[in-house]
Amino acid sequence: MRRPMVAGNWKMMGTRSEVEALSKSIVAGVSAISEVEMAVFPSFVYLDHIQKTFSGTQVAWGAQNIASERQGAFTGEVSAEMVAEFGCEYVLIGHSERRQYYGETDQIVAVKTMRAFEAGLKPIICVGETLSEREAGRTFSVVEGQLEAVLALENSNQTLYNAVLAYEPVWAIGTGKTATAQEAQAVHQCLRERVAKRDEKLAKALRILYGGSVKRDNAAELISQPDIDGCLVGGASLDGQHFLDIASLCNRSY
Ligand code: PGA
Repeated sequence: MRRPMVAGNWKMMGTRSEVEALSKSIVAGVSAISEVEMAVFPSFVYLDHIQKTFSGTQVAWGAQNIASERQGAFTGEVSAEMVAEFGCEYVLIGHSERRQYYGETDQIVAVKTMRAFEAGLKPIICVGETLSEREAGRTFSVVEGQLEAVLALENSNQTLYNAVLAYEPVWAIGTGKTATAQEAQAVHQCLRERVAKRDEKLAKALRILYGGSVKRDNAAELISQPDIDGCLVGGASLDGQHFLDIASLCNRSY
C-alpha cells in the first residue's frame, strides 16, 4: 500500500504576501483531503512562515535544495541541518533545474541525498530525461543512470526506504507538454523494476511521483496508472484551489 502524495514546488516564485495568501488558501481547504499526503516546497526564506502556518495541519513542507557540504565556509549555501530546524520533513534533491542551471551531477545528487538522510530529512529524488535524450531513445538508460548513482550509496536501501522518487521529464516541465499517462507509467515501471532487482519489498513501498505540467485536467489519468503514486506540481501549485483540486483527484486509496 503506497499512500499517494501531491507535492507543490513553488520554485523562486511569490512575494511574501502572495506566499501568505497561498498558504492560507491551502490550509482553508485541506481538511477535505484524507488519503493523500500533501507537501509544499517554498523558497528557504519562507520556511519559517510555512512552519508556523502548516504546523498541526496535514500538510508537510520541505526545502527545494540543500548544500552538499555539512557546514562551513560556503557562502550562500543552506545546509540540511538548517532546513531540518524549520520542521522540514522533505527536501527536493536533483530537480532538473538544479541539474541544468547549477551543474548538479548524479554524484552531487547522491551526496545531497546522503546529507538529507543524515539530517533526518526525506529526500524526493528527481530524475528525468531531456527532449534530445528522449528523441534518441535514451529515456530509460538516462533515468536508470540517475537512479544508479543513488543506489551506489553505502546506505542506499535505508535511505530509499525514507525517500520518494520523482520522474520529471525535462521537456515537460513548465512547457505545458505532459508525458502521456502511458509514457510516464512506462518510466515509473522501469524505475520500480530497477529498485526491485535490489530489494523487492523496497520497490513495492517506494513512492514514485510524476512531475511536468501536471494540471487539474491530467492528474486523474496520471494517478490511475499502477506505478504513479502522486504528482510533483510546479506552476499549478501556485494556485491554492488548483493544488487542492489536484490533491483531491489523487485522493484514492490503493
Ligand atoms: P511544472 O513544474 O508543473 O510547472 O511543469 C514541475 C516541476 O518542476 O516540479
